[in-house]
Amino acid sequence: SPSAIIAPSILSADFAELGRACSDTIGQGADWLHVDIMDGHFVPNITFGAPVVTKIRSHVAKPTQKHGKGTFDCHMMIAEPKKWVKEFKNAGCDLYCFHYEAAIDSTAVESPEERSEKKTSPKELIRYIHDQDMLAGIAIKPDTSVDVLWDILENTDENERPDMVLVMTVHPGFGGQKFMASELPKVTELRKRYPNLNIEVDGGLGPGTIDQAADAGANVIVAGSAVFGAKDPADVIAKLREAVDK
Ligand code: DX5
Ligand code: ZN
Repeated sequence: SPSAIIAPSILSADFAELGRACSDTIGQGADWLHVDIMDGHFVPNITFGAPVVTKIRSHVAKPTQKHGKGTFDCHMMIAEPKKWVKEFKNAGCDLYCFHYEAAIDSTAVESPEERSEKKTSPKELIRYIHDQDMLAGIAIKPDTSVDVLWDILENTDENERPDMVLVMTVHPGFGGQKFMASELPKVTELRKRYPNLNIEVDGGLGPGTIDQAADAGANVIVAGSAVFGAKDPADVIAKLREAVDK
């Protein structure tokens, strides 16, 4: 697997001290910041939007290279992922990770005509994100089969291939939920076929669950409550990294 990338989820940070929390976690050894965007439609919770991302960007230096330190990994738990690509680019997002389920069926669209018009194929959306000079990620929820990804990953056009796959290990919407080991066979299967792919896991990760995820082949590790709830966040970040790189 590629080397570990540790991406603390700022969902568990103190939102009233967000700028400080973001720069602190980078100082404690984090590689990326995992930025959870929820719209109250795709998931039953609301977090924040692009104006907040703009503000936290001023506390964290832009990465000097693709995938580099300080990458804003925006996890878009939103019903209309295409609509917000430019806005998040302008806010300082580096990696725009949309949900497969939202790309194929926009729940915000009412009529069948409108639905087919606004429907975006994952490949088109990846190309559109790349056109805005961001990395593109594709996420799948626990109820979605990993099989939906093969056609997208096998695309011969590099512009339409994702730079990362996110396998959710909880039902998206809230921090602090229990890790679902049932999702790890998806990671194993992805790793078997794609030795160099960045495979991210998100939900319930911490010192107690990292070994299973690392053994399956995940290398991009999101951890919210385990990092922000820790007495010594730097130590947790180091432990997560060690488990992946061992
Ligand atoms: C859940 C979010 C996660 C969440 C993880 O919907 O996508 O990123 O913050 O939180 P923990 O690590 O506490 O499970
Ligand atoms: Zn997330």
